[in-house]
Amino acid sequence: MAERRISSIDGKLAEEFAIPSHVEDVKEKMADFAMRHTEAGRRVVLITSGGTKVPLESRTVRFLDNFSSGRRGAASAEYFIESGYAVIFLHRHRSLYPYTRMFLTINMLDALQFKVTDGTAGNPSDVVVDQQMLPNIVKVLKQYQEVKEGGLLLPIEFNTLSEYLHLLKAAAQALHPIGSKAMFYLAAAVSDFYIPASEMPEHKIQSSNGPLQLSLNMVPKILSPLVKDWAPQAFVISFKLETDESILLDRACRALDTYRHQAVVANVLDSRRGQVVVVTPETQVELRLTEEEVQKGVEIEERIVSNLTSAHTNVILTDPGIRVRN
Ligand code: PMT
Repeated sequence: MAERRISSIDGKLAEEFAIPSHVEDVKEKMADFAMRHTEAGRRVVLITSGGTKVPLESRTVRFLDNFSSGRRGAASAEYFIESGYAVIFLHRHRSLYPYTRMFLTINMLDALQFKVTDGTAGNPSDVVVDQQMLPNIVKVLKQYQEVKEGGLLLPIEFNTLSEYLHLLKAAAQALHPIGSKAMFYLAAAVSDFYIPASEMPEHKIQSSNGPLQLSLNMVPKILSPLVKDWAPQAFVISFKLETDESILLDRACRALDTYRHQAVVANVLDSRRGQVVVVTPETQVELRLTEEEVQKGVEIEERIVSNLTSAHTNVILTDPGIRVRN
């Protein structure tokens, strides 16, 4: 029964969601990356980040978007690297990116100046970084260059829901050979609704035709085949976002029960920067920043990553075998 459901999700993916032309190349890149780092003694985490886009027309003018700035994923990527992981960063094009996220509020032209040496300004070789911004830029640049030299971050971009689904499947298959050394950290905000390719109008929908009525199909829950079929030994974390706190933990427990993976990070939209609950089949651990910590710039992602990397270590040490729960 379960097998039939999984293969029907696979079939649906192939039939109703356009397959990106570069998916096989990306899969090979991810598999090489995973193998190289595993051989070097590192674990590998696949982070999904940002929101998916669902087109309403095949020559797309309009689309539905899921909300996510990508900060959770980008910040977590940095903390995973600090903890010794290699990171595949499957993110929405132009959402927040590890390291450069720190400069989101800075206009690059405000950070640069001409140094006036001989009474003239404007020589390219005289461009310098604003002294006030320098310490911060140097700190982040050092981290970024170390990560680049070590080849510790593999960025992969998606825009649409179709790209996300196919690339996540490819990632799961690419990480299959490294078994329990792989972690999936599914922080992306993924649409639950879509218009099948066969029902999508080709051209821009005309407002002259009157009010628009949309009928959307349900997106298959990709967690199901990911956990049971594509990467059964991996350590899988999903995220649960609600706006109503009173239903959050119940929904998180239900997700764990349904998909049989290892943990759900539950968060409420308005408080997600300072408070989450890590829910596992046995425990519910609240992680919360104090006001003082927030002022000092401590990030909740540091706590989330620390909690999950310890849990991953315990699982690898105590049971290096199959990860799917019964
Ligand atoms: O990016 P930020 O602004 O920092 O915000 C971070 C966040 C709030 C987006 C993040 O912390 C978060 O909660 N992400 C998940 C939000 C979400 O879309 O939840 P969901 O209930 O739609 O999905 C739950 C899980 O099922 C997700 O891990 C998702 O990867 C998975 N899913 C969803 C849809 C689908 N068709 N298949 C899936 O497997």
